[in-house]
Amino acid sequence: MNICVVGTGYVGLVSGTCFSEIGNNVVCIDIDSKKIEKILQGEMPIYEPGLDKLVLKNVAEGRLKFSTSLKEGMEKADVVIIAVGTPPKADGSANLEFVEAVAKEIGENLNSYKVIVTKSTVPVGTNKHVKNIISQSNKSGHTFDVASCPEFLREGSAIYDTMNMERAIIGTETTKAAEVLTELHKPFNTNIIVTSIETAEMIKYAANAFLAVKISFINEIANLAEKVGADVQEIAQGIGADDRIGPKFLQAGVGYGGSCFPKDVSALISIAQNAGSPMSILETITKVNDNQRYVIVEKIKNYYASEIAGKHFAVLGLAFKPNTDDMRDAPSIDIIRELTAAGAKVTAYDPVAAENAKKVIPNLTTKDDIYDVIEGKDAVVILTEWSDIRELDLDRVKSTLVKPVIFDGRNVFNCDEINKKGFYYESIGRKTVIGDGE
Ligand code: UDX
Repeated sequence: MNICVVGTGYVGLVSGTCFSEIGNNVVCIDIDSKKIEKILQGEMPIYEPGLDKLVLKNVAEGRLKFSTSLKEGMEKADVVIIAVGTPPKADGSANLEFVEAVAKEIGENLNSYKVIVTKSTVPVGTNKHVKNIISQSNKSGHTFDVASCPEFLREGSAIYDTMNMERAIIGTETTKAAEVLTELHKPFNTNIIVTSIETAEMIKYAANAFLAVKISFINEIANLAEKVGADVQEIAQGIGADDRIGPKFLQAGVGYGGSCFPKDVSALISIAQNAGSPMSILETITKVNDNQRYVIVEKIKNYYASEIAGKHFAVLGLAFKPNTDDMRDAPSIDIIRELTAAGAKVTAYDPVAAENAKKVIPNLTTKDDIYDVIEGKDAVVILTEWSDIRELDLDRVKSTLVKPVIFDGRNVFNCDEINKKGFYYESIGRKTVIGDGE
């Protein structure tokens, strides 16, 4: 099948590449010609393990092309996928100006029947709006259908998630479009669910909101577990063994961040309010998530009896989660701001997000070597569970810290092992290990 993907951000670049990998001819469109030049040289605009190799492979095999011209990309396309950004506006609702501009241009360049798919996360009703915009600018007389196929990939495992997708949601109004898109998704050997357009639009928001609820729920359980002497990891294991709950997304920590959960939860709150059916559960989890970032800060302040001015902390992990350089809404931003506002010094380590972090955290000092960051510091503060943090040589860490103290916002270490090593160790929703640091 011939496919045109508009927008080479996370969703567009990964899904365009994966559609070419399964045998389609794909043209990816972006208005930024420099970005395209870099992609063709193997320099990806995002950090995503394996993406560079897969892009270059499919370019070399002639299935994947890039262009700045939507007209050119659409020429032979059976399916046009809109994957441009929908950044949040000040009120939390999604900004649709890029989607609208692309829809207009698609209408102007329609040269045969095509299925126009929206992959960007858009409020309920947007696909109908897109259909109207295309109809208005389409002077060709050719017919088209619109469809909503939301994307569920996770940053850091985006290629795996796409190639092994658990389900493909196809929201359309016509059998013809449903058939074209079913055919397109068949090679993924996945569970294909055909729905109305509005239902597909809601599935994406409902999925992300549900996962955000799950995380905030376990974080509140964690905070309570500490007070009553219980262990959140064992609670998660215990409740996760129930099939109806499931073990995933029950990692307590510093709360969720990233480009999707905060944005999509705010957008759904706004959709619900506008529809006269407010979702108070989402308003609450947003507050829970915002507060969760400060739980670790409070632990640090309490340990030092609020005297943290002049203390120097080794912050390990800056990205909102491992395997990404994405700093959007990363809990580390607020946590470092709180620590430095109280007079503490911070030197940070992140294997890939350090440069991006410096753009959003003023005057941040980072070092490339994790042990250089730790050496001579008063305590370690863990904010992202990168594998090299999990694999730290704890004896070496202990010997170079002023005092063996770790505040772990991601529950990276086993409490018994860390106790044997003699650390003072506070984590989230688990007992405090006293060790030798007190
Ligand atoms: C998410 C959805 O998972 C994906 O389906 C959707 O397409 C985009 O949004 P992503 O933002 O890439 O993906 O990351 P994800 O792995 O879901 O993690 C989101 C945040 O939740 C991270 O900050 C992570 O640290 C946090 N999280 C996740 C927890 O705190 N606990 C968990 O148990 C799981």
